[in-house]
Amino acid sequence: MTSLSAKDIRQKYLDFFKERGHAIIASASLVPENDPSVLFTTAGMHPLVPYLMGEAHPDGKRLANVQKCVRTQDIEEVGDDTHDTFFEMLGNWSLGDYFKEESIRWSFEFLTSPAYLNIPIEKLAVTVFAGDNDAPRDEESASIWKSLGVPESHIFYLGKEDNWWGPPGKTGPCGPDTEIFYDRGNGPLNGDGPDTEAGRFVEIWNNVFMQYEKLDDGSFKPLAQKNVDTGMGLERIAMALQGRTHIFETDLFADAYNKVKELALVEDEEAVRVVTDHLRTAMFMLGDGVRPSNVDQGYILRRLIRRAVRFAAKLQIPEEVNVSKEVVEVFFGVYEGVYPELEQHREVILEELRKEEEKFEKTLDNGLRHLKKEIEKLQQHAQTAGSDLIAGSAKQPTLPGDLVFDLYQTYGFPLELTFEEAEKMGFGVNEEEFQQNVEQHQSKSREGAAQKFAGGLSEDTPETRMGHTATHLLHKVLRDVLGDHVEQKGSNITPERVRFDFSHPDKMTPEQIAEVERIINDVIERDLPVTWETLSLEEARAKGALGLFEDKYGDQVKVYSVGDFSVEVCGGPHVENTSEIGAFVISKEQASSAGIRRIKAYVGEKAKEVLASRS
Ligand code: SER
Repeated sequence: MTSLSAKDIRQKYLDFFKERGHAIIASASLVPENDPSVLFTTAGMHPLVPYLMGEAHPDGKRLANVQKCVRTQDIEEVGDDTHDTFFEMLGNWSLGDYFKEESIRWSFEFLTSPAYLNIPIEKLAVTVFAGDNDAPRDEESASIWKSLGVPESHIFYLGKEDNWWGPPGKTGPCGPDTEIFYDRGNGPLNGDGPDTEAGRFVEIWNNVFMQYEKLDDGSFKPLAQKNVDTGMGLERIAMALQGRTHIFETDLFADAYNKVKELALVEDEEAVRVVTDHLRTAMFMLGDGVRPSNVDQGYILRRLIRRAVRFAAKLQIPEEVNVSKEVVEVFFGVYEGVYPELEQHREVILEELRKEEEKFEKTLDNGLRHLKKEIEKLQQHAQTAGSDLIAGSAKQPTLPGDLVFDLYQTYGFPLELTFEEAEKMGFGVNEEEFQQNVEQHQSKSREGAAQKFAGGLSEDTPETRMGHTATHLLHKVLRDVLGDHVEQKGSNITPERVRFDFSHPDKMTPEQIAEVERIINDVIERDLPVTWETLSLEEARAKGALGLFEDKYGDQVKVYSVGDFSVEVCGGPHVENTSEIGAFVISKEQASSAGIRRIKAYVGEKAKEVLASRS
């Protein structure tokens, strides 16, 4: 096996496919250009969807690229040996040109040929689609693997949850795949396949035979054009070739990872990996123009930065150390000449990271001050009342659940920090009582939800809450008034106004605008309660929730309901009752870009003023 640098792997891969008639295309941005169904480019196929659906690509039918991707569904897994939130995907593409035979043969040749990666055959294992009602068992791929010399004992048949890929959104191109694994262990296989031997196998390459389109009703329709979409994660193949036990030891991460280790005052391997990973992803997002905010891409970026700050604190990296600068400077070197956008936006990236860190630190300081003050009050009260609430007395005193809840909800103070701080001061936290509080305030919340969403709730004002809830109403009412083709394309909420972009081909008529306003004001007056619950993606889908993006944290999503009027996936926060919004008016309706309209609207006092001036 040849130990290659990440730079060499990229180059060899592109050369190999260029020699086989592929045009080399540039990586698209991490922010999808024309697809609001996902927040980030999650796979190499994503920017190519129109061409997989049959549109002609200007560079032909054989393409190869290295695509920047972000996936945050597995964020909790970051810290293990193979997960990261940003990765580079090496991909080769056939748009209605070659199919299974060439695709598998070339993958095999690239991986095993001494001129390329030179991996011994016995180190590889593959899986193929086992077949079901939607598509047949993939004997064809299995027999191609066999003809190349892969022993039958290294070929496994698995179902849709393993060997089916796509679409990245709710609908679109997809198909069965064959996945290639690298065996990190020694000796013969003794399980049923790569999935049963945790840690031993790393998935390195996925060849998708994209021959179906998934429709709205969940069914699969054969595509006129049969495509190949392959994806090989650069970090993982580098790990295998460089003989590392985890991705953070590869040359893509090692210097930054060691820098974090060096800055840390305590040992915590997971935290080192999380800080390294999240700062790298944040850097790439900022390089592609994303800025921290409370909605959409900006919300995910904010969560990554704040998570990095939390884990840096765990490592006891002193506050005066500018961790993000130290780490990101190292990454600038690693990606120099590969992604020029990083170099171009160098100053902005560093500045935005610094600003967001400061903001979060302020949030934490405020929360901490409040917590300390409340604890002092409790102690004084206990002393005068002579009760056993005093720290150090026989029974450990606990913080009241509503205090914990208030810190979390109003101060955006992460729950685990409350636990830590309380403990330092000799207090326990009554988790049960806290949970009851969550349930009281937010009628249907489920266990674990609080943990999941802690940390993302700061920077909210009564006005932005009103705006958030108004946006849900607007989304729903626009669909009711204009039709189901209306989809949210973006939104931006400030204390001053609400901005909402949506797909719709025509200018709205004055009648339609008046109708939308009328319905929303009607809902506001109906005093509908706003509640939330955490659901799995499936449950949310079954409830008909709007705003279902694949790119959400974990497979649990937070779903807000406004009475029985609207159901939408959202991080919050919202008002508790629609009456708090006061009033709603549309101040502008204009074109934003082709096929996209933009509405600006007011809520609350400002809306009431406008309404009053109209009559
Ligand atoms: N789309 C497939 C994946 O992301 C192959 O590129 O794994």
